[in-house]
Amino acid sequence: MKNQKGKTMIVTSSKGGVGKTIFLLNLAGIFAKKNQKVLIVDCDLAGGAIALNLNLTVEKNIFHVYEDLVNHRYQGYEKYITPYHKNIDMISACKDPRQALKIDIEYIISFLEEMKNHYDIILVDTTHGLTRDNILLLDKMDIILYIMTNDLMDIKNTKAFMDVMNKIEKENIKVILNNSRDIGLNYFSKYDIRSIIGKNIDYSIDPSLYIKNITSFLLEGEIFTLNKSLTFKDKNDLKKLEKMAEDLIEE
Ligand SMILES: Nc1ncnc2c1ncn2[C@@H]1O[C@H](COP(=O)(O)OP(=O)(O)OP(=O)(O)O)[C@@H](O)[C@H]1O
Ligand SMILES: [Mg+2]
Repeated sequence: MKNQKGKTMIVTSSKGGVGKTIFLLNLAGIFAKKNQKVLIVDCDLAGGAIALNLNLTVEKNIFHVYEDLVNHRYQGYEKYITPYHKNIDMISACKDPRQALKIDIEYIISFLEEMKNHYDIILVDTTHGLTRDNILLLDKMDIILYIMTNDLMDIKNTKAFMDVMNKIEKENIKVILNNSRDIGLNYFSKYDIRSIIGKNIDYSIDPSLYIKNITSFLLEGEIFTLNKSLTFKDKNDLKKLEKMAEDLIEE
């Protein structure tokens, strides 16, 4: 048991493929370097790829957490954990997408709450969009990290997302503009985006954090921020990501 309770942070978006999972992994790496004990939970239940991106072989996944909780067989979180690094553990998404259909997310939400007793930071990955599971999850997380790109459809859908968040009075959202996913996508200025979505951009990830040959790193299960040999074009941009992580620890 930890003295201080950990924090849940969920990474989400309106559009698929905007870089949520890569961002989450990079953030996990920075937290780990700052000696924070991190648990990554893949709540992109049917399509999650954290285990694949970390090149991990998994025995128990999130479906087993649910199954054991609902059948009163749950005896502690340890057996569902797959370790990755001394400061990073992971719980994988479902192996079979049909398992995802059976999960009642309320059980996972209470499990995430319990994990605050064991980890400093619980990083939750999601599928995109305001699905039922996502709405229920978002409502209970300490910090929502919303990822968007400089893309017309994404900006339009972000406005709709923020309108819903305003209606349910969610104020714990950090908007992160990911410019490292598609370099050259810069039609709208930050000012334009802010006036369309009705919310400030809290952080942006700069184009220099674009990683060439990303697939080869993913196949090796590398977290870029933990890879000493990987040098980014501009070290200051990585520092910005580190500053974001520090702010989130302090929140
Ligand atoms: N920093 C980066 N540098 C280069 N390519 C990137 C970067 N971030 C994301 N990508 C590209 O975008 C793809 C999608 O990224 P990622 O899987 O993180 O998105 P996602 O939002 O989690 O997608 P999904 O909605 O499918 O879960 C990656 O496979 C990679 O090709
Ligand atoms: Mg993803």
